[in-house]
Amino acid sequence: SALWLVVPAAGQGRRMGADKPKQYLTLAGQPIMAHTLARLYQAFPEATLVLCLDSDDRWFQPEWVPFTRWQRVTGGKERMDSVLNALHAIPAQEADIVMVHDVARPCITPDDLHALYQAAASHMAGALLAMPVADTMKRANTEQQSARTEPREGLWHALTPQGFRYALLRQALESARHYQRVVTDEASAVEALGEQPLLVSGRRDNLKVTHPDDLALAAAILSAQNI
Ligand code: C5P
Repeated sequence: SALWLVVPAAGQGRRMGADKPKQYLTLAGQPIMAHTLARLYQAFPEATLVLCLDSDDRWFQPEWVPFTRWQRVTGGKERMDSVLNALHAIPAQEADIVMVHDVARPCITPDDLHALYQAAASHMAGALLAMPVADTMKRANTEQQSARTEPREGLWHALTPQGFRYALLRQALESARHYQRVVTDEASAVEALGEQPLLVSGRRDNLKVTHPDDLALAAAILSAQNI
């Protein structure tokens, strides 16, 4: 059964406020992208990678890709457009499970990757790594005042990777695009079809590097993991 990995890496990372997209910032001596791809390869050396890059990307270097089978595609306006471009590059008859993983999550571990793959392969609606919400959740009003408290029971943070059967994921994202719904993860698009992906409890240190402070945090996590 053929596993395809899709890594959307066509974002600008504006919240980072850096001079280049965050996936190219250095973490423990290597660009974030190189860390992320190395972790994916460590878990799935036989997989085929599709990497989504911005059409104006000036930083990507192919030596960061450890996979023997891989290709690049041009990213789209939104993350979902980038992922759809990747799916269109995958021959439907050769794909079984597709796992999508943010380039900005370099601290993903082989154990979490394997757990998610197993869940995605055994659950028809697919699966995503996720983490139960630990903090009390507040709903703000327009004045940024705490208007009410949302029950956190049953609330999870959606992480990546998220894994689905190729046909389901493609149908879900094409439907979202058709109805002009922007989804920020693949599971949202699948839910809109009436399917319920499995929430797989993942490690709390699967950080998405988003803000400047996250760089030091991610470096500390990587060295503590010792993988
Ligand atoms: O902005 P955020 O960090 O949530 O983006 C999540 C992932 O989606 C990142 O890996 C980013 O590079 C990717 N992305 C993309 N194409 C876009 C927007 C974001 O591949 N148009």
